[in-house]
Amino acid sequence: MCGIIGYIGNKNAAEIVYGGLKRLEYRGYDSAGAAFRAEGKISVIKKEGKVEKLLPYLAGVRATVGIGHTRWATHGAPSDINAHPHSSGCISVVHNGIIENYAELKNLLISEGVTFLSRTDSEVIAHLINRFYSGDLVAAVAEAVKLLKGSYALMVICERENKIVAARYKSPLIIGFGQGENFCASDEPALAGKCEKISVLEDGDIAEITSDEVTIFNGELQCVVREVSPNLAVSSDLGLGDYPHYMLKEIGEVAGSVEYTLKAFGSVKVKLAAAFSGVTRVVLTGCGTAYHAALIGRRYIEIFAKIPAEAETAGEFRYKNPVLGEGCAVLAISQSGETADTVEAARLAKSSGAKVIAVTNCLRSELTRVADVVVPVAAGPEICVAATKSYTGQVAALYLAALTLAGVEGGGLWEELEKMPALCRETAENIDTSALARKCARSRGTYFLGRDLDYAVALEGSLKLKEVSYVPGEGYPAGELKHGTLALIDKRTVSVFIITDGKLAGKCENAVEQVLSRGGKVAVLTNLQDVKKRLKGLVTVIELPACGRLLSPLLSAVAVQKLAYDAAVILSRDPDKPRNLAKSVTVE
Ligand code: F6R
Repeated sequence: MCGIIGYIGNKNAAEIVYGGLKRLEYRGYDSAGAAFRAEGKISVIKKEGKVEKLLPYLAGVRATVGIGHTRWATHGAPSDINAHPHSSGCISVVHNGIIENYAELKNLLISEGVTFLSRTDSEVIAHLINRFYSGDLVAAVAEAVKLLKGSYALMVICERENKIVAARYKSPLIIGFGQGENFCASDEPALAGKCEKISVLEDGDIAEITSDEVTIFNGELQCVVREVSPNLAVSSDLGLGDYPHYMLKEIGEVAGSVEYTLKAFGSVKVKLAAAFSGVTRVVLTGCGTAYHAALIGRRYIEIFAKIPAEAETAGEFRYKNPVLGEGCAVLAISQSGETADTVEAARLAKSSGAKVIAVTNCLRSELTRVADVVVPVAAGPEICVAATKSYTGQVAALYLAALTLAGVEGGGLWEELEKMPALCRETAENIDTSALARKCARSRGTYFLGRDLDYAVALEGSLKLKEVSYVPGEGYPAGELKHGTLALIDKRTVSVFIITDGKLAGKCENAVEQVLSRGGKVAVLTNLQDVKKRLKGLVTVIELPACGRLLSPLLSAVAVQKLAYDAAVILSRDPDKPRNLAKSVTVE
């Protein structure tokens, strides 16, 4: 979604706002803008395109107060006009979220003579605050937000007051505390290296931020106190180092993600075991890649704990009146912990009496506030829009959660996971997917096929390739191919089979033969020696290190991620910032 940052202090606000926007760019990058206040005047710069488009215009800015925005368009196409900040009278506003009743508010404001410049929902906020402004910005924001329906994280500046006023409802917003300077941002990475202490605002909070003081109010303008905690974002984690792209860097960090997730699990094991007591059914939910991790987690629960488990995309789950209640645990999986559908699914589960367990990489996210227990994914900051190391961290966390649910406290199954970081590292360092990526890049379409756990990875492989290279594709159960999809196979298609389960290998090889006899190109990712022997010379074989079938997704995932990355680079796409996407989707 959109990223927002605000600064007030004694340094160059343009530099700080720009630096923060660069770090927030993964939240959206179709347009960007900033507003600065100096000598009682506000100047606004906004441009379609990535944040760096602002740079030439920032050189001349001399201000110590500023707010900035990097956008992922929801209402109104990406353009200079639709970019934030939006202004009205002496007010400028940046907004992350969606104002659901904007049309109604817009009509009201138009009937009062207001002229709108943009096609966004956010512009109504600027006009509303201006309408209520009579010398007290905090009071005007408080009045305006009472009329908003939907979600918002706002920062507002005004020509007549030397402060930033921030407000939030259902969109993340944090305050950063400095010495003679203060910050506000949609998330911690924006403030990495800038301040050591932060507070997370809660729904309905309004913050008045000056360079020396931060006062937080609730909606009735009573002062409230929010916990102050250390800023965990470290700027060194966020650099690209010698890598050409974050995606490649983060695939290289998969081993660490599994290793640290395993270590971090110790802190929650007892609490999780207690939460699982009496649980007779589990629902796993998440979106996109997190949903694909849920498909694997579901199988771990069925296999280890032998209790019914289902996986459902959060967007479907929350609107189907799910049958939940006592005895049911809902595992809500999300890298960001801010995905609107997943957070709302977790809220719904909680209100229905289910135990809610968050599996997340962001320990101060909204999801963690809803959950009864948080299982940490210790992947570290993931900057590339496409999820890589967070997926493998999620799979590791779900494996551990399933063992805990089954009451397995140690032994062979735990040791299997302990061996995986080394194997992930070996895979990331040695896998060569470039020749296959060239074939995929030239193809008319791709099919990722597998059975059971390999099918779940096939879905992820297909998503990853589509997402970063824009090559069309589908993930499919290998056994279903002959029931229709085979009609699409010809010499211009590439079918990528994942075969890591000895028991199902023969059946998958039948599907390989069916594709070959229709002239389709075939590649097989496998760690089974007999499969390799039988298929070598017939198809492209990409070998993975040997490991037990249950944890093989951690290795085949690295292979499909690397394949997607290679295809994106071959096609000159930017794998870190795929078109039309944003990393955390905080709107529906
Ligand atoms: C794909 C991808 C998305 C996310 C999805 C959920 O590479 O990144 O599909 O997995 O938007 O995001 P989180 O995990 O933050 O809830």
